[in-house]
Amino acid sequence: MDKIFERIQPEPFRIKTVTPIKMLTSEERKAIIQAVHYNVFKIKSEDIFIDLITDSGTTAMSDNQWSAMMKGDESYASASSWFKLEASLKDIFGYNYVLPAHQGRGAENILFTTMIKKGQTVPNNMHFSPDRVTASGGIMANLIIEEGKDLQNEHPFKGNINIEKLLALIEKVGADHIPFIMITVTCNNAGGQPVSMENIRAVRAVADKYKLPVILDAARIAENAQFIKMREAGYGNKSIKEIIRETCSYSDGCVASSKKDGMVNIGGFVGINDEKLYEIMQSYCLMWEGYLTYGGMAGRDLEALAVGYQEGIDEHYLQYRIGQSQYLAQKLQEENVPIALPAGGHGVWIDSKKFCPHIPPEEYPGIAITTALYIEGGIRGCELGNLAFSKRNEETGEILQLPEVDLVRLALPRRVYTSRHLDYIAAVAGEVYRNNQKLEGFKVKKYATIKYRTLFLGQMEPVEKALSNSPESKIKQVAD
Ligand SMILES: Cc1ncc(COP(=O)(O)O)c(C=O)c1O
Repeated sequence: MDKIFERIQPEPFRIKTVTPIKMLTSEERKAIIQAVHYNVFKIKSEDIFIDLITDSGTTAMSDNQWSAMMKGDESYASASSWFKLEASLKDIFGYNYVLPAHQGRGAENILFTTMIKKGQTVPNNMHFSPDRVTASGGIMANLIIEEGKDLQNEHPFKGNINIEKLLALIEKVGADHIPFIMITVTCNNAGGQPVSMENIRAVRAVADKYKLPVILDAARIAENAQFIKMREAGYGNKSIKEIIRETCSYSDGCVASSKKDGMVNIGGFVGINDEKLYEIMQSYCLMWEGYLTYGGMAGRDLEALAVGYQEGIDEHYLQYRIGQSQYLAQKLQEENVPIALPAGGHGVWIDSKKFCPHIPPEEYPGIAITTALYIEGGIRGCELGNLAFSKRNEETGEILQLPEVDLVRLALPRRVYTSRHLDYIAAVAGEVYRNNQKLEGFKVKKYATIKYRTLFLGQMEPVEKALSNSPESKIKQVAD
């Protein structure tokens, strides 16, 4: 029986409340995406059949979470709901102190403002946001292992930090110019790839040598723990909580968007062991997020999160969760759709360059793909490549450097779509890929004020004719 369960991996929940989704015609969708200037963020959610734009805050909550919300204590200060969340967070993560934030970026703002001094370099496997460390005066350094940049490499922990590069960076800039070493688990920008415990331990050893703190971006630490349990020797019989606790034991603090593993629609937190830092952070929390016992969340949100994190570390749930992206990856491969392998924790990433080899990189193949997926099947994916991450001239928007990989992410919301939905996604993507020669390039019609925010705020239009006859770019890719 167990073997059948392992093989089929049925959804470990029953569905009690549903949101009907409507299917427009492809003609209607064509008009809609044209009207929003090919910016999928601007499509009304009611006009989408399957929404894979993000796994962040899109979770379906459980009946336990909804009933806990009725107990939400909406007192401004020292509400009982906070103490339940505080206990839940300390139980799972083990930090001495925790502070609430409205979402991940609120937590980052508190910690980065407290710890980063202007001009300091922050190493990470890959920073998630292109501008938050920078906005705090820091300089970002992405030090992921080479295998993490190779979309076909089957390394089990492609999110690992390159320890030699980390040592070289510290020697080059000097430990005084580094506020902390960061590790993003799992590594979102590398396709949701995990970081091994061995690597985290090695980072700790480097940090100890140079007396540097280690800070985790813990948005998907439970999914990372599940990968460690599945792939790393010695962890098969450990509980997810034990693995998370061990991960955190090699760090001095964390920032977390709870909209992922916390199984809620809004929320975040900072974890920190040092009392002095905690005191400073309390002031920033108060200044930007709210009083220390709600940090931008309502009492009912605190309740939902206290329960949500406990559900997010359930092993049956996590097995199904990781199994879902593996299943989608397998179905896409059966359709010959070029994807990054192995599948990440929270979705599947399409290799845009291979999907559209005839479109030059500066004509945004990823936008051609997101447009086609929407018109063909009502599916909303997200370009995370040349539009999202190119380095630009901030005045003109001209691309100065392309990112190393050009991807479209199909992120899977938690507990929302069934395997039939995944079959449909793969079939649509397969059909679009078989007709890829019909896809054409795009150009930016209107930039956002900050040019690398064009993904969210800008406008695109199809190019009338190809910029060049060659799909090879004249712009070089980002060097390390
Ligand atoms: C790794 C990682 N860190 C931080 C964030 C930011 O979180 P939030 O959107 O809650 O501000 C995200 C969001 O997707 C993320 O994936």
